[in-house]
Amino acid sequence: MDDQGKLVLETPRLLFRRFTEADAPLLNALHSDPEVMRYISKGVPQSLAEIEEKVLPRWLAYHDEYEHFGFWAAHERATKAFIGWFHLRPFRGDPDEIEVGYRLHRRFWGQGYATEGSRALIEKAFTDWGVEKIVATTLAENAASRRVMEKCGLAYEGPFVYPSKLLPDWTVEERRGVKYGLQRMKASG
Ligand SMILES: CC(C)(COP(=O)(O)OP(=O)(O)OC[C@H]1O[C@@H](n2cnc3c(N)ncnc32)[C@H](O)[C@@H]1OP(=O)(O)O)[C@@H](O)C(=O)NCCC(=O)NCCS
Repeated sequence: MDDQGKLVLETPRLLFRRFTEADAPLLNALHSDPEVMRYISKGVPQSLAEIEEKVLPRWLAYHDEYEHFGFWAAHERATKAFIGWFHLRPFRGDPDEIEVGYRLHRRFWGQGYATEGSRALIEKAFTDWGVEKIVATTLAENAASRRVMEKCGLAYEGPFVYPSKLLPDWTVEERRGVKYGLQRMKASG
């Protein structure tokens, strides 16, 4: 397909492109770092087979279903290095709300990349894609992720418990998360 891997968005330091089927090993490297996966799977790595057979096909299917939403690979403009990914997708709890998410390689943490990428996507979603509300969730103790949400202008909305279907072997206490949100500013007349 010609539009796979195509450039979607640029920020001062980042490039966003569509994922392709060839990206499974790239994702496997990211999803194998226990520190990266700490608040996602208690550090358990995701296998290449799972990425090839389940994760990537599900992500690629977003582009068939939605014009604007999905998961994108992010690269550093200066080096072209793959830094990780971002998503915008209808929120499971309310598909009218669009959920932003991110996962970056550890060596790229602490440079403002998650904030820069998320802000650019949120701006695009509000101004060009007709999105009315952006939300994000994370486990309550994921302080870095919460900070990114705050820096992007999202405000704390309340507790959020991840469904047991999503995290089958986790206790309710372990699934305790938080939800943040940001409503699009209405143009004043
Ligand atoms: C969450 C994540 C994407 C943040 O990426 P990043 O590029 O480092 O984020 P930014 O640099 O834009 O901002 C991080 C902010 O969190 C702060 N922070 C980092 N670790 C923190 C901690 N343990 N406690 C409190 N604040 C923390 C940073 O100081 C920074 O805030 P500041 O600019 O006010 O100093 C990255 O840590 C990551 O990929 N983690 C693993 C995957 C993950 O947990 N994804 C989110 C799942 S919901």
